[in-house]
Amino acid sequence: MATPTHLNSCSSTTFTASSSFNNDTHHLSSRFVIVPRKPHSFTWVSHSQTRLRIHSKTHFHLKSSNGHPLNTVSLQDGSAGTPLPKKHVESRRKEGSLPLPESENSESTLSITVVGASGDLAKKKIFPALFALYYEDFLPKNFVVFGYARTKMTDEELRNMISRTLTCRIDKRENCEDKMDQFLKRCFYHSGQYNSEEHFVELNKKMKEKEAGKLSNRLFYLSVPPNIFVDVVRCASLRASSANGWMRVIVEKPFGRDSKSSGELTRCLKQYLTEDQIFRIDHYLGKELVENLSVLRFSNLVFEPLWSRNYIRNVQLIFSEDFGTEGRGGYFDNYGIIRDIMQNHLLQILALFAMETPVSLDAEDIRNEKVKVLRSMRPLQLEDVVVGQYKGHSKGGKSYPAYTDDPTVPKDSLTATFAAAALFINNARWDGVPFLMKAGKALHTKRAEIRVQFRHVPGNLYKRKFGTDLDKATNELVLRVQPDEAIYLKINNKVPGLGMRLDRSDLNLLYRARYPTEIPDAYERLLLDAIEGERRLFIRSDELDAAWTLFTPLLNELEEKKIVPELYPYGSRGPVGAHYLAANHNVRWGDLSGEDS
Ligand code: BG6
Repeated sequence: MATPTHLNSCSSTTFTASSSFNNDTHHLSSRFVIVPRKPHSFTWVSHSQTRLRIHSKTHFHLKSSNGHPLNTVSLQDGSAGTPLPKKHVESRRKEGSLPLPESENSESTLSITVVGASGDLAKKKIFPALFALYYEDFLPKNFVVFGYARTKMTDEELRNMISRTLTCRIDKRENCEDKMDQFLKRCFYHSGQYNSEEHFVELNKKMKEKEAGKLSNRLFYLSVPPNIFVDVVRCASLRASSANGWMRVIVEKPFGRDSKSSGELTRCLKQYLTEDQIFRIDHYLGKELVENLSVLRFSNLVFEPLWSRNYIRNVQLIFSEDFGTEGRGGYFDNYGIIRDIMQNHLLQILALFAMETPVSLDAEDIRNEKVKVLRSMRPLQLEDVVVGQYKGHSKGGKSYPAYTDDPTVPKDSLTATFAAAALFINNARWDGVPFLMKAGKALHTKRAEIRVQFRHVPGNLYKRKFGTDLDKATNELVLRVQPDEAIYLKINNKVPGLGMRLDRSDLNLLYRARYPTEIPDAYERLLLDAIEGERRLFIRSDELDAAWTLFTPLLNELEEKKIVPELYPYGSRGPVGAHYLAANHNVRWGDLSGEDS
């Protein structure tokens, strides 16, 4: 643990990004080997994992309601591919890395404390994710979960509260009730103030009782507003850290509002924790398709050679929600969509997408490459951005509120609920390629996707068949992060028949058809990674710093110049300005082309 210095002051030293990591004993991501599972099928596991038990799992079959096999890869609607047996789609951890080794299982304990246990995130995401991990046998043998919050509650009341949000995988209902009971028996509650060292001393006492003298590892999940992060970290690290095992802290965004406040927060946290102990979560990095982005690129010969300005015309990162900020206006008005979605979720995807090949899959190698991308970005100008705010709208006899109808939002608020931006990376690989981002609330649809539009085929023999519409004749690769995860590639294809007519078809990998398993929630993956000490999907402080360096001048300018957002109706496709912005860079938004399957 960090030696606490300047314990009572958070204003004297300046933050410098640290590059010394890896203090923890377990570093599971390093040095991967291929372990044969069956002829023609391999799984990636680390050396340290090869000695672990490999579970043989029950094989489930799913049938679609219309009787067709679910697991096929299809070209458009026609079916063609081979069903993939379920056991081949279990996660890699299932195949080799967890549960923890026997010796560690019996000699150590894991205490997970959810600070802010009565909040929405804890109820909806964190406890259900912990249960899912338990249900799938991913938690170590000895573990307990503590809820900590100011609300007075008994253990029983906590269990009642969280039991309402626990669910079992739809394809695995067996023992669900029993498993829930067993899980809930390991959940305890402690009520206390977030800034009271005394209350954390009490928590520590309870933890010790449960740990019964074993080596204790402690994970704190801070599901609390950012203004109390430092208090909690101070109390936890001084009064409830592990005496003989590791202590790690997961923090949720917002990590500040700008470069200065974020730097200050990092500096304060580092008075009590080392960088290695801080797990800054960006749940988009835990999403299946975002994880797959690097696999797709680096382990398919057909993609990596194309991954540059030579073949890619533009990249689009799109986030939209079909609901507004109802109920969250108080929080949102202080942040806005750029800080809420772009500066973190979309920028993280961009960095992963655009990075050079890392030396290895080790967390530091990957994060080193991401930081280079972020530091190579061209400073954002006001003219590269369009901001919008939703207004009230009535449709089909139903009326939808304006952003400013929220009683917790000032009537004259200029906070953006929509933003589109054109970003550029000033390096050899991406020089001149627009990376367009778009994020909005209260739009016509809920989706998140990555779209890669390729250049036209030089001297295309079939050009005349498409007229002059470049967009119609070029390939587009789409990674649909949600909903209904899919990867599809738009290709030009000959329409069968005696003539020579071309159309656009999709080579479509639809996850629900190919993989007969429920995709784990991002929080499951990230919690498991934090427990394992795997930092690859968490944000390092220099990454955070670089992300704020990019957005802070723009955010300041928007605020100082009081830029008025363009209004768009609730449930619409967003401000027209976004189309002009894209057109300025010779781009058309792929999601609005009306071509999608
Ligand atoms: C959060 C934002 O980080 O992500 C929310 O603060 C947003 O405003 C949410 O609704 C979206 O997450 P998901 O996983 O539902 O797409």
